[in-house]
Order: sequence, then C-alpha cells, then structure tokens
Amino acid sequence: MCGIVGYVGEQPALDVVVEGLRRLEYRGYDSSGVAVLGDAGLQVERRAGKLANLDAALAGHAMPGTLGIGHTRWATHGAPTDRNAHPHTDCTGALAIVHNGTIENFAELRDGLERRGHELSSDTDTEAVAHLLEERYAQQETQGDLAAAVRAVCADLEGSFVLVVAHRDHPDLVIGARRNLPLVVGLGEGENFLASDVTAFISHTREARSLDQDQVVELRRTGVRVTDLAGTEVDGDQFHVDWDTAAAEKGGFEYFMLKEIQEQPEAVSETIGGRIGVDGRLTLDELSISDEDIRGFEKVFIVAAGSSYHSGLIGKYAIERWCRLPVEVEMSSEFRYRDPVLDRHTLVIAISQSGETADTLEAVRHAREQRAWVLTISNTVGSSMARESDAAFYTRGGPEVAVASTKAVMTQLAAVYLVGLYLAQVRGTRDEDEVRSHFRDLATIPALIEDVLGRMDGVRKLARELSDQDRVLFLGRHVGYPMALEGALKLKELAYISAEGMPAGEIKHGPIALIDKGTPVVVLATRHALQPKLVTNVQEIRARGARTVVIATDGDDSATPYADHLIRLPDTKSLLSPMLTLVPLQVFAAEFAMARGLDVDQPRNLAKSVTVE
Ligand code: F6R
Repeated sequence: MCGIVGYVGEQPALDVVVEGLRRLEYRGYDSSGVAVLGDAGLQVERRAGKLANLDAALAGHAMPGTLGIGHTRWATHGAPTDRNAHPHTDCTGALAIVHNGTIENFAELRDGLERRGHELSSDTDTEAVAHLLEERYAQQETQGDLAAAVRAVCADLEGSFVLVVAHRDHPDLVIGARRNLPLVVGLGEGENFLASDVTAFISHTREARSLDQDQVVELRRTGVRVTDLAGTEVDGDQFHVDWDTAAAEKGGFEYFMLKEIQEQPEAVSETIGGRIGVDGRLTLDELSISDEDIRGFEKVFIVAAGSSYHSGLIGKYAIERWCRLPVEVEMSSEFRYRDPVLDRHTLVIAISQSGETADTLEAVRHAREQRAWVLTISNTVGSSMARESDAAFYTRGGPEVAVASTKAVMTQLAAVYLVGLYLAQVRGTRDEDEVRSHFRDLATIPALIEDVLGRMDGVRKLARELSDQDRVLFLGRHVGYPMALEGALKLKELAYISAEGMPAGEIKHGPIALIDKGTPVVVLATRHALQPKLVTNVQEIRARGARTVVIATDGDDSATPYADHLIRLPDTKSLLSPMLTLVPLQVFAAEFAMARGLDVDQPRNLAKSVTVE
C-alpha cells in the first residue's frame, strides 16, 4: 500500500511532503521520493529503502518551492530500486507523477508508447502513465490543460489507481485522480493538501473532503475544484477530522487487525488485477519458469507455516482439481527433516506473507539443493524467499501490521487459485474458456467479501456472548477443513483459549468424546458436494449437547434445523468458498478476544515475522 502526499501553499513544500510521508510510514513501503516545483524548475529525488535514505539524498540537494508531491512505494511492478521509485517523469521532465495501485492494461499501453518513440526507464506501470499524460497534454483537444489531460488519461486506464501530478507549466496546481483506492483532500487557509489518508496532513488542517470514484481534483493555493471524468464539476462531502494521529493511522478502527479485515476486498482486487493479458490468457509475469518446464512437473509440494499453511491446503484442492497433479502440503518446519523425494520434475511452492519465515526459507533452500523448481508466493517484494526461488508470485496485499494474519491469508488464497489456473492453462488440463470462466468467478470475490463484511453484526454479538467459554471447536469438510483449522488458530492466538479445527468426518473416530452439554462448535456448512454427510455430522454433535454455530449459504436450509446460531454467506463456487468463510472466522476471533479485554494487534508471545527455526 503506497502512501501519497500532494501540497500547494506558502510553506516550503519539501518539509510538508516529507513530514506527510513520515506519517504514512505505517502503511509500509520499500522506497520513497519527492518532486518539488519552484524557481529552479521541477526537481525530483527518489531512493530505494527507508525515508532515511531519501533524507540523506536531500541533505545535499536544495529543493526550494511551495508546491510538491511525494510517495512511499510498496513494490508491485518491479523491484524496490531507485529507478522504480516514484515520482516518475515524462520524456521531457516537464511533469512528475506518483501513483498507487495497478494499471491492468499497462503492457498494452507501454507497447504503444514504445512504438510511438517514448523511452521508458523503469519497470513500473506508473511511468507509462507519465508518458501518456505527456501525449495528452500536447494534443490539440487538451493542449496545455493539465486537468483535462489527466481526465483523458484516466479514461484510458484499466485497474485501480490514485494519481497525483505536478507540471512545470503550472506553479499553482496539483492534480489528483482516484479509482478504487483512497485519496483525501485537506483544506487549509492559503494551502491545500492531498493524501492517501488524513494522517498525512492533520498537523496542518483538520478540514477534509472526500473524493468519489473516477473524480479528478484540481488543487490550488486558494481553492479546490473537483470534476468527474467528463469534466463536469461535482460537489463533495466535507468533514472535520477529530481523530488523533494513532486513530487516523488505523482509519478510525480500534485495531489494525480490524482495519485489515475491512481492507480485504481491495487487497484481493490487487492480487487478481492485471492477470489477464491482451490475448485473453492468464499471465503471471513474475512466474519465470518456462512452459516446457511447467509441462514437465510430475508432482507438487506446498510448504508453509501457520496460516500460510492453511492457504497451502486450499492450494492442494485447486491444483489437484484443475491440473490433475499430485500435491503434498507440508509444514515447512517438518519438510526437510524427513528428506522428501524431490527432483527436477518437482515444483515446490513456498507460501509466506513475510517471505522471511526461517522454517519456510530453509525448506526453499533444501528444495533448491535437491534441484526442484521453487515458486514463492509472498506479500513482500524482494524478500529472502523470493530472491532465493526460481520464481516469485507477489500477492500485493499491502502491509499487514497486526500480528495475526488476515488479509495476507485472503490474498494467498487468491494467489493459489491463480497459480492453479495458470498451471492448468500451460499444461492444457483445462481449456482456455474454462480457465477464463474460473477467473471470472474469482473476480466476483471482492464484491462478495464486501457483502459478507456488511453482515458481521450478528457474528460480533455471538462472539461476545460466547467469550466466557474456554474452548471452541471448528468443523469442516473438503475446503471447509483448512478453514476450520484457520478459525481455530485465530482464536488460539488472539483469545488464548483451546480451539481445535477438525475434519467433520473424523469426529466419530475419537474427537466426539470432547462434546459435552453446551460445547460451542462452529460448523462450516456452506454448499458443497460433501454437505449431506456434513449435515449428518452436525446432527451427531447436536445430539450430544453441542451448541452449534452453523455457517451456511444463502437459500440453503439443509443444516439450518440443527443450528443454534446461524451465519449466512452469499453463494459462490464451492472451491472458492474459503474466501468467504474466512471473514466471519476472523471477525469472530477478534471480537471474542476484544470482549476478553485483549490486544488483538499484539497477542502475547507472538512475532509478526518468525526468523528463527
Ligand atoms: C497466524 C500467523 C502465523 C503466520 C506464520 C507464517 O495468524 O500470522 O501463523 O501465518 O507465522 O508467516 P509467514 O506467512 O510470514 O511465513
């Protein structure tokens, strides 16, 4: 999740912009940069790494001026290097642009620009936008009108973006535009601000204005004008911010974890964005293993730890179903110690949010020593695992601050489906129409997660009601089983109670002895082929006194007669259903722990990145 700041006013812009970027550091980033417009023209400075690196570069570079833009970049297209850091400029250096998001038709746009003679010097999608703006700004219809040029470019872009632009011809104008990602306007006296969130400017002003989809804002010292993409001026909502800085960082939520749960629709959109190429085929740019080698795979191992291991279990269902390849999923802490049989026809998929987990990193190293191919699925560009693998697939979920993984797991699920579909496409085990149809189903998931998030009041109420319990069981079958494990893990780590996830078919082989009068059992009973058997399992536990919480699909009443509490979810393809069931499990665990007065961002004894074996 990048951070963006724009400023025009009376103060030295560099100070205001860098201070704003510092306040947005919590969003996570791996490079940063600024552009300032003043008597010396439009000057740009950018550096890989933390803001300290930018500070050091700025120490030897005077950048006077009262108009500026700045950016902290969380790498998606291209490694976190100086060259890929924002701002980006056009061929003439007349304009500078910062960008958050993913331009899905970037490859096509870049090809066209290169054919028309533009020279692009970075690996980013952003730089293409700078050159498109250069063209539009010179064209007759929009000549010299920066806002009109931005509107015209936005209409040509597919994907999610926030753009902020400065141009040397316009010493009193910063332009911002947004689609799907956040951008807020800060309204001052003789100065105005743009930022990814209000944290960046609340030390200057607490008056703000929100922007809607596909709106373009013209920011001047004396005022702000907002238009839609057709150029029609629009009204907006002005509001007063009374959060302190800490609350602002959390978007007004009490904990980062709650904010991160809420960010999941956007995070999944980022993961799946830009994955269909101009030829209509699924493309995974970072997957640098040749088609011939992919066709030679004879088996797959998935290695991961904790919640990432649960994503791996879902990956097994997807890859076996679509690719007809045998898949073993193994906890990375065990993998290399049993000397697994690996060779040049084995694909090892390592899944890790941080890309630094020692157990999984060692599993990657072992697999490579044994000459297996290694693909890392990670949220962290340039992480150790990504660097040491043959290929990396980035989930683009944005930084996760809370220790317990939520949106990272969600985006890993999207990633394992995409990798499964890609392997199926290359190996020809699913025809292109079928791959596209599954992709279309996946593309509906962000809106369905949004829907689920809107239904969570009952789950929160139930969690508070049950929060005096000292154990909870979770049952599921098929893809519901890994999610039962995940529901239990979330509750253990956040609420410090015994929680166990089990395959529902197994309970009669022993665990049913745990059921006593009133034992809370969460049953993941969304629609799928094994559901009739699952309904029998629910009857069995209820007959023994369990207090059942049933998660069921809208319109499906097969398990509801046995539900003491019912949680409804929208329908989707059963293989994709974990992306919906995950949400109530996260909300349940967080609310349960908060009702016990616990800090859900920093659970005891846990670290975000476990770099020891
Ligand atoms: C659970 C959790 C952990 C991590 C595990 C692996 O909420 O956060 O179980 O999933 O430590 O971490 P990564 O994915 O960084 O390898």
